[in-house]
Amino acid sequence: MQRNGRKPVVAIDGPAGAGKSTVARQVSKELGYIYIDTGAMYRAVTLKALRQGISMKDEQALTELAKKTDIKISYCDHTQIIYMDGEDVSAEIRSPRVSQNVSLVAKVPGVRLEMVRLQRELAKGGGIIMDGRDIGSYVLPDADCKIFLTASAAERARRRARDLRDAGYEVDLTQLEQEIAWRDKIDSTREMAPLIQAEGAILIDTSEMSFDEVVQKIKECIEQQTIN
Ligand code: DC
Repeated sequence: MQRNGRKPVVAIDGPAGAGKSTVARQVSKELGYIYIDTGAMYRAVTLKALRQGISMKDEQALTELAKKTDIKISYCDHTQIIYMDGEDVSAEIRSPRVSQNVSLVAKVPGVRLEMVRLQRELAKGGGIIMDGRDIGSYVLPDADCKIFLTASAAERARRRARDLRDAGYEVDLTQLEQEIAWRDKIDSTREMAPLIQAEGAILIDTSEMSFDEVVQKIKECIEQQTIN
């Protein structure tokens, strides 16, 4: 698939646990695209802030921190590896402590501006699938294909619980559901670039769909939206 001589740019947005990263990784593998998980960038800044004891309410300090942080992305078998100031933090950014604080960091406009600058830079060459909360609405409004992936809150919590258990963490499902609801609220009510279904985005509710069905559906959407 090529458009104006450039491979398409695909934006996938949606709330926590909708399955964006697992399906986006698979679709990118099948189509030969680069996959960029933008949540990992906000998580890396959050990890650094936690390590340095910076208050999650100190917007100025968080903005300064984001400006000074060197975030780099590389790939191993289509899985994204994220480096923060040269350190591979791909596993540590998934810790419950980072998850519990990341929404507060991601709502700071100064932090977002830094991350968005980096994300637009990464998308320049095309042939990418980028997932996040504001990719179709704010970061890449001209994306060739926009998808909004969601699922019921209970299903999203179950999926996150499974991922966390696989990574060796103990999980309280009720607490996880509450945390996800809290994060959704912060992400969708913040002032700058909140989580919304972008204009023109195709809505896919994955609650009752298998992984393979979601992958297939996304590939169809990409084909339909990038053909014209
Ligand atoms: O997808 P995730 O759970 O790794 O996202 C972590 C946090 O970052 C979440 O609170 C939403 C926020 N985020 C965002 O505000 N904008 C993005 N493009 C990606 C993630």
